[in-house]
Amino acid sequence: MKENDKTVVVIDAGGRGSALVQKYSQSPQVKKIIAIPGNDLMSLSSKKPVKTYQKLKTISIKEIIEICKREKANLIDVAQDNAVEAGLTDKLNEQGFNVVGPTRSAGQIEWDKAWAREFMKKYKIPSPKYKICNSKQEGIQFIKSQVSSRWFIKAAGLADGKGALPAENKQEAFEAISQMSKFGKAGKTFVIEEWLTGEEFSTFAISDGNYFQIIGSAQDHKRLYNSDKGPNTGGVGCSTPPLVVTKNIFKQAKLIIDKTLKGLAKENRKYKGVLYLGAIVVKGKVSVIEFNARWGSPEAEVLIPGIQNDMFEIGMHIAKGNLRKIKIKTDGLARIAITGSLRPEAVRKKRKLLGVREALRIDGVTMFGARVTKENNYYLVSTGRLFHIVGKGKTIVQARQKAYEAMSLLYIEGNSLHYRTDIGWRDIERIRKHSV
Ligand code: AMP
Ligand code: GLY
Repeated sequence: MKENDKTVVVIDAGGRGSALVQKYSQSPQVKKIIAIPGNDLMSLSSKKPVKTYQKLKTISIKEIIEICKREKANLIDVAQDNAVEAGLTDKLNEQGFNVVGPTRSAGQIEWDKAWAREFMKKYKIPSPKYKICNSKQEGIQFIKSQVSSRWFIKAAGLADGKGALPAENKQEAFEAISQMSKFGKAGKTFVIEEWLTGEEFSTFAISDGNYFQIIGSAQDHKRLYNSDKGPNTGGVGCSTPPLVVTKNIFKQAKLIIDKTLKGLAKENRKYKGVLYLGAIVVKGKVSVIEFNARWGSPEAEVLIPGIQNDMFEIGMHIAKGNLRKIKIKTDGLARIAITGSLRPEAVRKKRKLLGVREALRIDGVTMFGARVTKENNYYLVSTGRLFHIVGKGKTIVQARQKAYEAMSLLYIEGNSLHYRTDIGWRDIERIRKHSV
């Protein structure tokens, strides 16, 4: 019989970490979960006690190692991009821990978009045309030399999902290039990319370094306002499964993931953990927008709950390089996540979040926290992406109805809750068109 005394450490603060905590907590082998930094809502969806260290950062390497040693961690899931870039996985590996998450060198596929584009070119992975620039001058010269077009200008380093700036014409491109300096070190090198027009989706694979399995696909909504208007965010809602991922598109996505993981292994950067392919379909062909070395958020919140296996077992198989031994199963349900944030115009101050208990009474609804704290029996929020409400159902229409029903019961003091009301619109439109 398997022992039920395992301790899992999840390195993340937000909704992605909350979804992982929930799934690990469902493992009969797991007794205790530690989340660094974690958040106060994690215990709402966890079946086991969750201890958080909210004063620490995901890159507090020394302290994290001390905690893992003290708590005799059996498995550590490095779920956050900054931690990957800081080499937390490498340091934990050196200490002999079982770790899910790529090393710094494998994770370069996310934390260095310039390196990633060169890698994709070398391994013939379909991508937009691009130019890597190391100075503002170089960028301006390049744009001047081009016939007028549309581009994306991207900081090469990590920028909280906000480092990609669209440019509709040369003038906007010059402005975007000037903006790169605001990303500091992350924007020192930047990439000018051809703007591809098509429908986006993301596919998630887990790899043990030699072998991979795909968990599923999702469709994220990056812009802050309805109808995909407003500034880019880290993601304000998503749905699964996306209908754009037909058998043929899935086959292409899988091939891209296969080539990528093989390429990384060839470069001596074996990839262990979750690989996130951000893709776009242009005239039936899949092209890579970006790779991330982690789950997406809120994509994790719609994909991880569907996993039917014991998550501790999956994690250990990734860490030990035995992933072939198990077949990952999912429940096949549709899920929609809606992200609640503070109204952009609201003054940043602590406000009460009300209605949590009522929202969670709806069957098939889960709430994953990001920036919600609990004080004196009140949930408090102040800034940023605050939480994600996930609804599930047999179809995306059902899942969406549940998620919005729950959302309508939530309220932030001063009428300050913002969320998009059109999450999943592409597929809802497709379904409705076919049902008339
Ligand atoms: P990224 O930070 O690379 O994820 O980019 C953020 C968002 O910008 C993506 O989800 C796309 O919507 C858009 N984007 C980035 N690069 C391109 C591109 N080359 N063509 C079209 N859209 C892009
Ligand atoms: N939702 C997009 C991301 O996690 O990067």
